[in-house]
Amino acid sequence: MAQPHPPVPAAADGNLSEEFAAPSHVEEVRKLMAEFAERHSASGRRVVLITSGGTKVPLESRTVRFLDNFSSGRRGASSAEYFLDSGYAVIFLHRHRSLYPFIRLYTGVNLLDSLRFQPGDEGTSHVLVDQKELPNIAAVLKRYQAVKAAGLLLPVEFNTLSEYLHLLKAAAQALNSIGSNAMFYLAAAVSDFYIPVSEMPEHKIQSSNGPLQISMKMVPKMLKPLVKDWAPQAFVISFKLETNPSILLECARRALDTYNHQAVVANVLDTRHGYVVIVTKNSQHELILTEEEVQKEIEIEEKIVRNLLPAHTQFMNQ
Ligand code: PMT
Repeated sequence: MAQPHPPVPAAADGNLSEEFAAPSHVEEVRKLMAEFAERHSASGRRVVLITSGGTKVPLESRTVRFLDNFSSGRRGASSAEYFLDSGYAVIFLHRHRSLYPFIRLYTGVNLLDSLRFQPGDEGTSHVLVDQKELPNIAAVLKRYQAVKAAGLLLPVEFNTLSEYLHLLKAAAQALNSIGSNAMFYLAAAVSDFYIPVSEMPEHKIQSSNGPLQISMKMVPKMLKPLVKDWAPQAFVISFKLETNPSILLECARRALDTYNHQAVVANVLDTRHGYVVIVTKNSQHELILTEEEVQKEIEIEEKIVRNLLPAHTQFMNQ
């Protein structure tokens, strides 16, 4: 059954200033992103803005407690690598300490267990890498250094919901000048609820006051102003996560109707790393990892990116 549309929240027009505090470096980052996008676009490269990871929603101004969500940032970080492999320049707008391209492959490895100290002659010493502990490290390091040397990856960090919203707006405005050469790949899991600064207690909420009841407001969906005003010529991909598979496609289609962007990547929490559906106005494409592909360590993000590339080309040629 279709769910009712939520009431339109404050700032749905994209004016964030009243309810969400802007990070102090937002102007500086906007300039960096604009310069990055223009430089790469001028040399014939497409630019993708990837959002990645969850957002933190503070409950107190001097924050002791906050609401968070499950997102690890794996989708965004691995997609960034496949976009780089496909010739894109990548702005990686990610949650602080969420997974990061290339280094994500060694998550959970204790670095000190993978290094060997070897004394050399005359007081010198060497540190050797155990390649069993860090599989493929030479190839991964080579890829990472090539990306770095060519200046193809611009990392931008956020932590809180406010930072995410302001930096996404700044990114969209920065990429507007390169028109359809820009892609937005909005894989972040952004909180739908927040407490406005004006209603937030300053100090730590006291447990001696008894059980906590909080009332939260709806966060404005950034997709609306992004598609309509901030970067109207860009190729925009949003994501839709559900836990109930039976409403997934209906929610994805509703998002397309509401925001009028190009595609939704629909996924279910438990199966998100092995199965997604790419939904456009006229099509629906299932991407599945087979057992054999899992064994070969093929990732679903490679298939997502491979599926989106011709669609972006076609969009640019229209
Ligand atoms: O990070 P992983 O652990 O690998 O998990 C990946 C993922 C499940 C987080 C990812 O694949 C995913 O589905 N991300 C979107 C989650 C979601 O359902 O978001 P949403 O329904 O709240 O938002 C829909 C779209 O609007 C998203 O593209 C979101 O980035 C964007 N959005 C959301 C809120 C908001 N205020 N503004 C937005 O633009």
